[in-house]
Amino acid sequence: MKNFSITLLLCVLLHPFLKAQLYTPSPAAVQKSKALLAKMTLAEKIGQLTLYTTDWGSTGPTIREGYKNDIKSGACGNLFNSHSTAFTRELQKVAVEETRLKIPILFGFDVIHGYKTIFPIPLGEACSWDLAAMEQSAHIAAKEAAAAGLHWTYAPMVDIGRDPRWGRVMEGAGEDTWLGCRIAEARVRGIQGSKLGQTDRLVACVKHFAAYGAATAGRDYNTVDMSERFFREYYLPPYEAAVKAGAASVMTSFNDYDGIPATGNKYLITNILRKEWGFKGFVVTDYTSMNEMVNHGVVADDKAAGELSINAGVDMDMQGSIYQRFLAQSVKEGKATLKLIDDATLRILQIKYDLGLFDDPYKFCDAEREKATLLAPEHRAAAREISRKSIVLLKNDKNVLPLKKNQKIALIGALADNKTELIGNWNGAGNAEDCITLRNGLRDGNVTYVKGCEVDGSDRSGFEAAINAAKQADVVVIAVGEKAMMSGEAASRSDITLPGVQEDLVLELVKTGKPVVVVLMNGRPLAIPAIAENATAILETWWLGTEAGNAIADVLWGDYNPSGKLTMTFPRSVGQVPVFYNYKSTGRPYDPNSKWNSRYIDIVNTPQYPFGYGLSYTTFKYSTPTCDKTTFKQGEKIKVSVTVTNSGSRDGEEVVQLYIHDLVGSVTRPVKELRGFQKIMLKAGESKTIDFTLSNDAFSFYRRNMTRGSERGDFEIMVGGSSEDTQKIKVTMK
Ligand code: NOJ
Repeated sequence: MKNFSITLLLCVLLHPFLKAQLYTPSPAAVQKSKALLAKMTLAEKIGQLTLYTTDWGSTGPTIREGYKNDIKSGACGNLFNSHSTAFTRELQKVAVEETRLKIPILFGFDVIHGYKTIFPIPLGEACSWDLAAMEQSAHIAAKEAAAAGLHWTYAPMVDIGRDPRWGRVMEGAGEDTWLGCRIAEARVRGIQGSKLGQTDRLVACVKHFAAYGAATAGRDYNTVDMSERFFREYYLPPYEAAVKAGAASVMTSFNDYDGIPATGNKYLITNILRKEWGFKGFVVTDYTSMNEMVNHGVVADDKAAGELSINAGVDMDMQGSIYQRFLAQSVKEGKATLKLIDDATLRILQIKYDLGLFDDPYKFCDAEREKATLLAPEHRAAAREISRKSIVLLKNDKNVLPLKKNQKIALIGALADNKTELIGNWNGAGNAEDCITLRNGLRDGNVTYVKGCEVDGSDRSGFEAAINAAKQADVVVIAVGEKAMMSGEAASRSDITLPGVQEDLVLELVKTGKPVVVVLMNGRPLAIPAIAENATAILETWWLGTEAGNAIADVLWGDYNPSGKLTMTFPRSVGQVPVFYNYKSTGRPYDPNSKWNSRYIDIVNTPQYPFGYGLSYTTFKYSTPTCDKTTFKQGEKIKVSVTVTNSGSRDGEEVVQLYIHDLVGSVTRPVKELRGFQKIMLKAGESKTIDFTLSNDAFSFYRRNMTRGSERGDFEIMVGGSSEDTQKIKVTMK
């Protein structure tokens, strides 16, 4: 707790110095890149625009082999999925010793929630609402990856996720745009640090630009269609926040936007990203997304796909080999200009210069540093800390939690004794063997372990042993959820209930009359109405990574008082999806007691667990918020205050959330929108008054004429511990 206060204090003190800054190449990098460009052949330039995977952990079809020959000939200037100092050194040597111009390779990798020390999946980590901790975990991930020969990571993923069928919600921050922006900034700061070239940081790559999270029906790679207003208001801001926090590269997305695939979308890449936001880094495609524009049906062949991309503003072709095969020909035919190719080449060279690779191409290949850095004890300690902060207590009847050490525990579930699933999808270079299981985490207790059933499949043969163990115990702890590969890329589900017979087993255990604590391990919000009703307690633990078992045990034993709050709504059934907190009111607002309004006839509209929700082992009471001015001038700042009291008997942290509602707008407005939060620590019985300052930006939106700004009128300001548990006041903007 002391650590928490110190971190908070440091953040407050350092904040002005950490001010977000757009990446701008250094003058030296600009000048040296230009000088180098003057010596390059067209083929060598195109080589710098080419990125291939090596044969490690690729996420799609490898359409071209022989990357080593490509490096030698200068036809490939960038590689991904090659890591470790030994391997990257070997490849770098080819580039800087055997090519004409000795241009170093840029090495990329998906370091999504850790390199060797694996942190919670990003969605889980977001539930900590602890920006300093998220920045720290991103920094540690970068530090380990940079020590293992890497320069560049494909993170942060900032796609807004409102549809839990979409498996990739696990990689983002959840459903809220405002919170998504803050988390995007924190992650960019953590990955990239204050400037490129530090040996404990990587180049960040914001992805997937743009609107990938809105894949129709939650089906990965599906098309996206939405109004410009909706796009700018909800989906676009996190990319902008990440770019303005300094991210030096951006990845396009697989989907189309307004009928044009993102990889060929000039409006997105040139107009918005470069012109509106002033982005000066480089843009890379997603894996063969350039080629896939043929399947989208907007170009007839690969060559035309390359032309569409270069003209849209795409600098680097990931794995498509289109620029390599066709771009020179396109230049000859006048379908791509040399100027476009020069600009793209410069943008990539500048980053290589700013990384310091021209001065020392082996700067990130120090085997000693690699050994000392990976899985360092302090990294594991940080992972345990952020993991326990990411856990969300969803239910705790009769205060069954925390458990007591003298209780006899029946520990059940395949996931309770599994390492592979706990490190989750996109687990970098993490080793399952390094992971602490829940069974191991509970080693100090009086625990009997029985598997009961697998995560999937229909085998019930283990039920009996599990039920017998439950009968002998004081309390049952059962770990259920998904396998790691059931979410992430290419892992959409049409049914988001618990797979297999896991739910049946939980309900059988409930019948024993023993208290049943359900520990969920999963990559997306699940529909668990029967468990929500029947389990005694529920802990959402996501996939917490290397220190999972210790972190969950810390919460189960009460060594850590849970403080996580959901950043993505849990539906009651998949039929409610998409269900999110900041919906707009319709002309016929929901009334469960009458028919002719916006509702279902077979289920209520409210979710199982709303955005912002999460319990603690203590309780918090909120005063009605007050405002220093109940009427204020447009553009004037206002201060909202609330007193929060820890009304229970344990010390605990609370995420105090502030929402606004614009009562009358020139366009329809959501019923509430998050505009601020503070995570505070309160001792048992302690009260604190929290102040929020709201500037004009908090009240701004895309007005009827598509300009962004506020409109005079009445607003409700709501403060509370969850999006559905707030107290409100009304203020008027004059
Ligand atoms: C495809 C994924 O969509 C993207 O997120 C990832 O960075 C690339 N593959 C590279 O692995």
